Amino acid sequence: MLNLLYKSSYVFVLFYYAIIPLGYLTKWWVTIEKMKGNSTILVTGGGGYVGSHTVVELLKNNYTVIALDNMINCYSGNEKPESLKRVEQITGETVTFYNVDIRDREALDKIFKTHKIDSVIHFAALKAVGESVKIPLTYYQNNVGGSATLLEVMAKNGVKSIVFSSSATVYGNPQFLPITEDHPTGQGCTNPYGKTKFFVEEIMKDVCTSDPEWKVILLRYFNPVGAHDSGMIGEDPSGIPNNLMPYISQVAVGRREKLQVFGGDYETPDGTGVRDYIHITDLAIGHLKALEKIFQCDFRSWKAYNLGTGRGYSVLEMVKAFSEASGKQIKYEITCRREGDISACYADASLAKKELNWTATRDVKDMCKDTWNWQNKNPKGFQKS
Ligand code: NAD
Ligand code: UFG
Repeated sequence: MLNLLYKSSYVFVLFYYAIIPLGYLTKWWVTIEKMKGNSTILVTGGGGYVGSHTVVELLKNNYTVIALDNMINCYSGNEKPESLKRVEQITGETVTFYNVDIRDREALDKIFKTHKIDSVIHFAALKAVGESVKIPLTYYQNNVGGSATLLEVMAKNGVKSIVFSSSATVYGNPQFLPITEDHPTGQGCTNPYGKTKFFVEEIMKDVCTSDPEWKVILLRYFNPVGAHDSGMIGEDPSGIPNNLMPYISQVAVGRREKLQVFGGDYETPDGTGVRDYIHITDLAIGHLKALEKIFQCDFRSWKAYNLGTGRGYSVLEMVKAFSEASGKQIKYEITCRREGDISACYADASLAKKELNWTATRDVKDMCKDTWNWQNKNPKGFQKS
């Protein structure tokens, strides 16, 4: 009798500690897999740099994608951005596309009425820091006003989950490094662009407070660089690039004479600015992990995650790495600091690892190799001639 009791307690322990958790795990995994196969995601700004790379990963993972873009910052291949036509070639899938502005309430509403949207990934925004100082109202109208309109139309149509493209810029001048998600935000955002990211984060938090059905993930990107490894899509800035990587790659391909290194007197190992560069494909995958999190039945309200590698590289380290990857000499001169720049900024990305099961797997060599592959194959970007 005692023996039987002893044995049955074993069965109980096995059931309690192994079978039940295994059951939960399987249920969770099945839910995620089911969501992947059956979910329709609306991607705003889908023709842009981060948007197009994310659409590739969504399609690869069997999501149905509805992309919209007003094509203000992507090269138009007439009815569809050229980037999305290339996405179709990469994946062999068709992307449903709407040439729509997120501020156009009626057009947005029609999209929600036509498709059964399960969640939204919101990239659409203007993003040039310098320009935002000159035309702040355009930035507030587009980025903040546009996001508010999108949220209203979503609520009206009963779609209450969204992944938002935020930025490390919300942290301002870092008070400590590496930056964790609980670092204060909104203090020392020096330009209207950065403030739009902070304001939209705050609006989304308020929306969650007002209605417990909302689920929001704020992804704070560090410095996205690189390109899809096919070399078919990549970053295609119009005019003179503001950011380091596209500028370096245009020097390498002969479109620009030399790089100006903004400041050689920062308190960093070689005096030049340090940033946390993250490969665009790793960043894109981060959005899929965020969706998986948002689809979990126990996810509530909002949560912010840093997407970075956790490792900082200086401007001169990036120049050297790019030179090695491309086999080209990158001419540069050290000039004065750029107004509003900070000395160093890099992420603590451990929360995304712990809670999203996401970590960056591509290193600086991959970032430079893929940027060069894209630039070399497309010296003028998406424009063919
Ligand atoms: P991008 O300019 O390449 O893509 C944004 C897309 O949104 C463009 O194709 C543009 O035409 C579209 N768009 C702009 N306003 C719109 C509107 N009102 N309606 C519809 N479409 C509109 O920029 P990206 O680098 O792909 O950035 C995507 C998002 O990530 C942006 O919100 C940006 O602020 C954010 N972000 C980017 C970086 C970065 O360094 N690339 C860093 C942090 C955050
Ligand atoms: N830099 C140069 N020369 C250039 C361009 C940049 O020396 O021609 C330097 C900058 O001074 C900085 C580093 O390279 O030290 C990186 O500069 P980027 O302009 O590439 O990137 P930022 O860190 O200034 O800002 C970028 C985006 C922001 C975003 C931020 C964090 O432009 O929108 O990353 O995600 F908020």
